[in-house]
Amino acid sequence: MTLGSEQSLAAAVSEATAILLDAGVPSPRIDAELLADHLLGVGLGRLRAMMLGDTPAPDGYAELVAERAQRIPLQHITGVAHFRYLELAVGPGVFIPRPETESVVQLVIDHVQGMVHPRIVDLGTGSGAIAGSIAHEVPGAEVHAVEYSPFAHAWAATNLAPLGVKLILGDLRDALPELNGTFDVVISNPPYIPAEAIPNEPEVALHDPPEALYGGGADGMELPTAAAASAARLLVPGGYFVMEHAEVQAGWIAGMMQRTGVWSEITTHLDLNGKERATSAVLAGPHHE
Ligand SMILES: C[S@@+](CC[C@H](N)C(=O)[O-])C[C@H]1O[C@@H](n2cnc3c(N)ncnc32)[C@H](O)[C@@H]1O
Repeated sequence: MTLGSEQSLAAAVSEATAILLDAGVPSPRIDAELLADHLLGVGLGRLRAMMLGDTPAPDGYAELVAERAQRIPLQHITGVAHFRYLELAVGPGVFIPRPETESVVQLVIDHVQGMVHPRIVDLGTGSGAIAGSIAHEVPGAEVHAVEYSPFAHAWAATNLAPLGVKLILGDLRDALPELNGTFDVVISNPPYIPAEAIPNEPEVALHDPPEALYGGGADGMELPTAAAASAARLLVPGGYFVMEHAEVQAGWIAGMMQRTGVWSEITTHLDLNGKERATSAVLAGPHHE
């Protein structure tokens, strides 16, 4: 690899793109640019303008490209994940938030419009992407977040403290019993991958924590089922529950919620790619202990 400061920025980014393409990185050009921008800190627009001139490649670029070629997630290298309006600190031990979850958050933001001080809880908060976004975008909301993994909890604590979210280390199955029947909204993106469905991408299979991926049981539905049960426990009557899932799980989840008899208005929602990505429902009767 000849990448180095004796090269122009443009030549180095082209060479990095080829290296990342060869390593099977799905978006090699954009990752090559983002790694250069991580070192230069000028923004992608200015970076592209700089590549038209004879700006030299930044020191350390070859090392970052070599890490990315090992399929270490871009966000672990830069230490940052962008989610809606937030820049979240991320790294080993925490799930990197996904763009499709941004549209799940939007369902809650739309639902609470007009409510004065909505009380909202995010079950399995990971980096705090969902809870943090709601706290940032819904003035007056009281937002709680629950996370089981101490590693993820530490990242969430960093991200959520400035946003005023009340974060606890706990199990979504029995967390916050003292607040049963008090929330207007429960949102969750729980682990939901079936035990045998090991993801193909090394960034996911090797770097997202297993406890963030696998939902438990052969079909991955233990934690989603538990999240729905906890939502029924935590919500006020008439409260709103939204849960993310894989597109193939929408029918199963709607059926599971139907059978409990406590939910009405069970609705499947599409993400921006037209995939069945989330299910929402309204708690029908008095809350269940
Ligand atoms: C798919 S990740 C989602 C993270 C984050 N909400 C997001 O959307 O980016 C699932 C999260 O649930 C957490 N988790 C797993 N089991 C849990 C449990 N029993 N109680 C609470 N959190 C749990 C995982 O550690 C992980 O952070």
